[in-house]
Amino acid sequence: MTNITVFDHPLIHHKISLLRDKKTGSKQFRELIDEISALMAYETMRDLPLVEVEIETPITTTIAKKISGKKLAIVPILRAGLGMVEAITRLVPSVKIGHIGLYRDHETLEPHEYYCKLPEDIENRQVILLDPMLATGGSASAAIQFIKNRGCDKIKLMSIIAAPVGVVRVNKDHPDVQIFCGVVDEKLNEDGYIVPGLGDAGDRLFGTL
Ligand code: PRP
Ligand code: URA
Repeated sequence: MTNITVFDHPLIHHKISLLRDKKTGSKQFRELIDEISALMAYETMRDLPLVEVEIETPITTTIAKKISGKKLAIVPILRAGLGMVEAITRLVPSVKIGHIGLYRDHETLEPHEYYCKLPEDIENRQVILLDPMLATGGSASAAIQFIKNRGCDKIKLMSIIAAPVGVVRVNKDHPDVQIFCGVVDEKLNEDGYIVPGLGDAGDRLFGTL
């Protein structure tokens, strides 16, 4: 596991424990995904480019720093990645948002694409791909490839819970993509679910259990 940042922060540990609890209902599940995403966003965006601007405070004129231009895009993987979008748009309201629709075949665990709409100028943007679950890594790896096929080579992946095999898969297929994740769990079970994990993130977010 090379290109990965795992968060080791009490707030993130605490909120992931609440997410895992099967007694946590959809409303609180959505709130927790949102809160964890906002906490993770700080580190994921640490290297956003800044420009110096002149500002007049009530006291004096000064040179201050702002995020440069409009160079960020986020791409949630449908469905579960949608739960991470608002946390980022609150922090960076001008961000462009693409969508990639993928579902895992329950038998083969292979990802199937059903939707892809990305910003026109994605090749000029830093992209943060959002999906709370990185299991086999098939969905993330395919989504990264779609984005690369559009000419973008600055991609990060933000996941909340990852399985070791998924991390290895993304690192192998896309060694240039840095993974940011809240925690790396033990393994996958025979159905391809992360253990201990949190179950099916999309179903828990949208109440479709
Ligand atoms: C889940 C999850 C990821 C994918 C991870 O989505 O949100 O996209 O599985 O698994 P992988 O790493 O093995 O590809 P799912 O296919 O269940 O679709 P959904 O979000 O619409 O429920
Ligand atoms: N997708 C999920 O939502 N949960 C898992 O544990 C694995 C894939």
